[in-house]
Amino acid sequence: MSTEAQTSGDAVYWDPYRPDLGKDPYPTYKRMRAEAPLYYNPDYDFYAVTRFNDVEACLSDHQNFISGRSDILEFIREDMEVPPGMFIWEDPPLHTAYRTVVMRVFTPKRMNDLEGMIRDYCARCLDAVVGRDKIDFIADLGGQLPGGVIGMLLGIPDEDRDAVRDRVEAALRTEEGKPMEMDQAAIMGENFEAYIDWRMDNPSDDLMTELLNTEFKDPEGVVRKLTKEEVLIFVNLLAGAGNETTSKLIGWMGKLLGEHPDQRRAVAADLSLVNNTIEEILRFEPPGPSVARYVANDVVVQGQTVPAGSVMLNIIAAANRDEGRFVDGERFDIHRQGPPHMTFGRGIHTCLGMALARVEGRVALEEILKRFPDWTVDTDNAQLSSSSSTRGWDTMPVFVG
Ligand code: HEM
Repeated sequence: MSTEAQTSGDAVYWDPYRPDLGKDPYPTYKRMRAEAPLYYNPDYDFYAVTRFNDVEACLSDHQNFISGRSDILEFIREDMEVPPGMFIWEDPPLHTAYRTVVMRVFTPKRMNDLEGMIRDYCARCLDAVVGRDKIDFIADLGGQLPGGVIGMLLGIPDEDRDAVRDRVEAALRTEEGKPMEMDQAAIMGENFEAYIDWRMDNPSDDLMTELLNTEFKDPEGVVRKLTKEEVLIFVNLLAGAGNETTSKLIGWMGKLLGEHPDQRRAVAADLSLVNNTIEEILRFEPPGPSVARYVANDVVVQGQTVPAGSVMLNIIAAANRDEGRFVDGERFDIHRQGPPHMTFGRGIHTCLGMALARVEGRVALEEILKRFPDWTVDTDNAQLSSSSSTRGWDTMPVFVG
């Protein structure tokens, strides 16, 4: 593997496992957009696209770029067997059937109805640290809120929520410089099994009960309920997809607004800017920087044939700063009135939790700004996490006041 530092004379090099490149990947992404819009990495044998239009086109083309072998580079390479129900890693018709069931119960209205509970939860976390001169955006809020919210949604008892989050984080983490290893038990939803059994005997008005009872037509045309195994995997997918990503959003909030005090003061003075601020944080530092696809047929990208059997990495974080789409895309600007970013993906797998993530981001920022309008990042103690599917902060300590 190439290890030398990149200079503008070298051919551009990028892989998602190199900690030095992961620290600030944006100069490399910029070079990839300009010099190698269809990039090929021989060390890990993958292609990558970085321009907005190319990423959008690949993610929208689910015939040629399939998800059925996972959307994580190393899992596709390993030819991992995808457990049925893990619909983020399924293709039509099974994906369509499963997604339809979840969309029926995972409605924007249900997400918005959670707002009051989310606000109470944030208030409890933040009131506990008022008066301190230092807080941590992850330890004090970002690490707890998303799991708490998924727990509320599913009706999971409070005492089990932290264990679920820790398990999912451990499954997604990569050792520095190494591809991720698969924790099958975590993916199979072992954590929720006892809870589902209990919920089957104690139905309520939560999403879990609805998932257990809702009927759908499977690809064989049979109208049926989900099996317990399918519900287990669904629930684990929701917890996995919604936890780490939203936690990272809150960490980036601390980092970016800490480093742009004028913009932080502007939004603190005018909370109507909060929605736009969340969109700009999502654009500027997407918690899931890339999603992979298996190339099912020979396909032409940027005038070159990408052969069937390849892996294509769609670098959302690079697309989000494409100067062909965003004016001055490398500048963080909460007043931006630009076109939408791609942080929640595109096409048939577009994030099902985006309404929820946005409510969590908005409410978290409002509640933080009410209590802590000023902060400075404690850069020496902030730790960036190393995972190939998410990028963000394990700790984001800030000095307040
Ligand atoms: C800032 C937070 C979030 C980000 C950046 C994010 C990002 C994404 C992206 C990029 C995808 C598409 C993956 C692909 O195309 O392979 C996705 C899919 C998905 N997300 Fe999110 N997500 C977030 C929060 C959530 C939350 C809170 C939930 C649920 C509680 C959730 C549930 C899902 C599910 C179920 C899918 C799969 C959809 C499908 O395959 O049809 N996400 N997310």
